[in-house]
Amino acid sequence: MENGLLNLKAMDSEQLREHGHKMVDFIADYYKNIENFPVLSQVEPGYLRKLLPDSAPVQPESLESVLEDVQTKILPGVTHWQSPDYFAYFPSNSSVAGFLGEMLSGGINMVGFSWITSPAATELEMIVLDWLANLLKLPSDFLSKGPGGGAIQGTASEALLVVLLAARDKVLREVGKDALGRLVVYGSDQTHSSLLKACQIAGIHPENCRLLRTDTYNEYALSPESLTDAISHDVASGLIPLFLCATIGTTSSTAVDPLLALGKITKRYGIWFHVDAAYAGSACICPEYRHHLNGVEEADSFNMNCHKWFLTNFDCSALWIKDRSALIQALSTTPEFLKNKASQEGTVVDYKDWQIPLGRRFRSLKLWMVLRLYGVENLQSYIRNHINLAKKFEDLVAQDPRFEIVATRTFSLVCFRLLPANKNEEYVNKVNRELLDAVNSSGKIFISHTVLSGKYVLRFVVGAPLTEERHVIGAWKLFQEAASTFIEN
Ligand SMILES: Cc1ncc(COP(=O)(O)O)c(C=O)c1O
Repeated sequence: MENGLLNLKAMDSEQLREHGHKMVDFIADYYKNIENFPVLSQVEPGYLRKLLPDSAPVQPESLESVLEDVQTKILPGVTHWQSPDYFAYFPSNSSVAGFLGEMLSGGINMVGFSWITSPAATELEMIVLDWLANLLKLPSDFLSKGPGGGAIQGTASEALLVVLLAARDKVLREVGKDALGRLVVYGSDQTHSSLLKACQIAGIHPENCRLLRTDTYNEYALSPESLTDAISHDVASGLIPLFLCATIGTTSSTAVDPLLALGKITKRYGIWFHVDAAYAGSACICPEYRHHLNGVEEADSFNMNCHKWFLTNFDCSALWIKDRSALIQALSTTPEFLKNKASQEGTVVDYKDWQIPLGRRFRSLKLWMVLRLYGVENLQSYIRNHINLAKKFEDLVAQDPRFEIVATRTFSLVCFRLLPANKNEEYVNKVNRELLDAVNSSGKIFISHTVLSGKYVLRFVVGAPLTEERHVIGAWKLFQEAASTFIEN
């Protein structure tokens, strides 16, 4: 049979080698040509069903024919997050090191829910998260040698959910299960929507989720005064303040909540304090950005997505917690078939008790590879380069009187908009919506938007590993050209 391909065995080291090489070549070529694709996929909904057969093949097909379909049918429906012209949402980095770690993890393919199921998986995760905690200068209570420690979750949303469950159960153990309806969760109107989702899952009543209003005067950061007011009001009404989620680098504008002041308030009321640094946490490995984490010592839990801006392929969300027993009490179940000597002796960490699913991948390999193959200095330069490129873009916007910077840039996100003279807000919003559609449908770049104080805002985030100055300048030219058409019309 052709290349032995049609005799593909369930596992065979030589076949793996041969096909693995072909796949790596395919992926390497993808990266080589990535700038030739429209960044935002231009297909219509349902396009793929028209191109693929109605049922799975009865007889095996060749890898070549599958890759041919990937090239002609799948890639047109891919939005290229790794394109150097990708400036939307927040980045979701891949890298050579991250890819190699992902490959190794997929290759070993163990399921490390308990220490015994692969001691190296648990122990490497503890070590690597201690390394990263030290790089971020997190308080030592987050290190695995004490009652705390770190664990890799799939996403920031999962991290938030598990710590909310830990906080909820800790309080309910003290005040009784019937108090669930009186628990209150706090964030700001800039907090990521994963907080509301976590509350929904955790059974926190929607009317007890306080998304406190932020404003332009303090750059959309959560104000300690408004938190104190809300808590005092809730306590006076017989409610129980449970949980605060503060953010370093909010999704809309990368606002930074004042951790120290907020943390002091949570301590006063015995509230669990979670810090979401999903995107901006990465920047805090640079000494000049670390001050944004000042006050993190007040936090009970801290989260950063290494899969966003830290060269680690999706998914890898690092969560640290000061009191792991709270998490374990909320999430541990030990049926007979999972019992083992090491777990029972209490000498090991079983990460199944720190997360929602039982099964878990060897994700620490990716992060370990990234830290070892790049080293801290290169990682810091990587972040600084993106921030400098964002600054470059911001300068270009600021020099063009047709545009306006809408929020102060803190990291690598620039919030801006076109501002036609003498026009009302409604019209300005409409023009910016159309401008966004125009640049995205050109396929040349991809950006996303938000709304701040009623203004429709364009978000330009630098963070893809292949982005260079020429891409940023090219993107800016595109905005300028589009602006000319919009303003003339
Ligand atoms: C600040 C912040 N928190 C949480 C999230 C949710 O991330 P995830 O997709 O890992 O759940 C995001 C996503 O962009 C975010 O920007």
